[in-house]
Amino acid sequence: MKPVNSVLSSFGVTVFETMSRLAMEQGAINLGQGFPDSNGPENLRRVAADAVIDGPNQYPPMLGIPELRQAIAAHNKRFYGLDVDWMTETMVTSGATEAINDCLMALIEPGDEVVLIEPLYDCYLPLVRRAGGVPKLVRMEPPEWQLNGDQLSAAFSRKTKLILLNSPHNPSAKVFNDDELKMIARLVIQHDAYAVCDEVYEHIVFDGKKHRPLMTFPGMRERCVRIGSAGKTFSMTAWKVGYITAPSELLSVIAKAHQFVTFTTPVNFQKATAFGLNQDDDYFENLAGELEAKRDLLKAALTDAGFAVMKTAGTYFLSIDIRSVGYTGSDVDFCQDITLNAGVSAIPLSAFYGPGSGVVDHFVRFCFCKQDSVLNDAAAKLKDWSMNKPKGPLD
Ligand SMILES: Cc1ncc(COP(=O)(O)O)c(C=O)c1O
Repeated sequence: MKPVNSVLSSFGVTVFETMSRLAMEQGAINLGQGFPDSNGPENLRRVAADAVIDGPNQYPPMLGIPELRQAIAAHNKRFYGLDVDWMTETMVTSGATEAINDCLMALIEPGDEVVLIEPLYDCYLPLVRRAGGVPKLVRMEPPEWQLNGDQLSAAFSRKTKLILLNSPHNPSAKVFNDDELKMIARLVIQHDAYAVCDEVYEHIVFDGKKHRPLMTFPGMRERCVRIGSAGKTFSMTAWKVGYITAPSELLSVIAKAHQFVTFTTPVNFQKATAFGLNQDDDYFENLAGELEAKRDLLKAALTDAGFAVMKTAGTYFLSIDIRSVGYTGSDVDFCQDITLNAGVSAIPLSAFYGPGSGVVDHFVRFCFCKQDSVLNDAAAKLKDWSMNKPKGPLD
């Protein structure tokens, strides 16, 4: 039989899948995969349910329904001061993941270089490589996850087509600061490149800070594509509604990829997302406030259990340094160990690195968008385990 696609077949089952399966088999509290354990806002669910009953239930327009595209443009103006033409500069996709794929398919020619920042979200490398891109990886170093300017500059060349930037950043929970964004903008302009900005956690930023899209920086409006996700902004990850804001010259080509991949997105979820984006500022402030309280709860409980908790400026996630409790095994060992022996699961950060790029293997990520009682239970189990159990597979 002829071989199947070598890029995709080279990737194994993801650690998210493996850990979730193990957590399920063990009946462990799953703080691995990033999804809330609530049902999401009832008002949005009602809009979505009514839309199915009332119809229409046929193909909506390829770029998305006008009311959602208008809401995307208005949201850009309200939160970031961006003037966006909803008719030529917005598009709705089936999740941010599809949006990322559409952008990479549309912008990359085989052999183009793509700058990526490690640790990175799991779909980036396979999608870049499948689109024919050549990944140029730059690594942020823990515990501060600083972006090294020299290394970033060295990753850019005349072959650079784009940088794929995720801020607020999963898994490090870092929010890129203005100096870093300016440095990225300068390099993008200098190399006549584009920036695809995965901003799915744009409304999940803590400590009174606000997200600032790269698109708002001088010279970036015409070079940036901005991606949001209803899944994260409305705490319903199953909805898979993403949205793209891009200059019309780029969007028209990105839309071709969307046309041939999914063509449209369920109309009821689009209507409900439009309703959601049009809500007043309180909704967005409460979202960040509630998640910040959960971050604080888990951080305090894990600190009390003896773990060193990393800074968490945004997203659903916080990380701990497993060496802080004297654990001598790897992050993968640790995650297996706590799933089997503490009844709590997490994700090893080494899963967010490309193959063969050296290993950062002593951090694990916990997801805190869960009920307070679940977070308290998990922390208590981890405390008990850390006080009473061996600290590594060889101990
Ligand atoms: C950084 C990042 N990008 C994209 C996604 C996927 O978003 P969606 O579910 O809208 O496809 C996630 C989900 O966890 C994410 O963390």
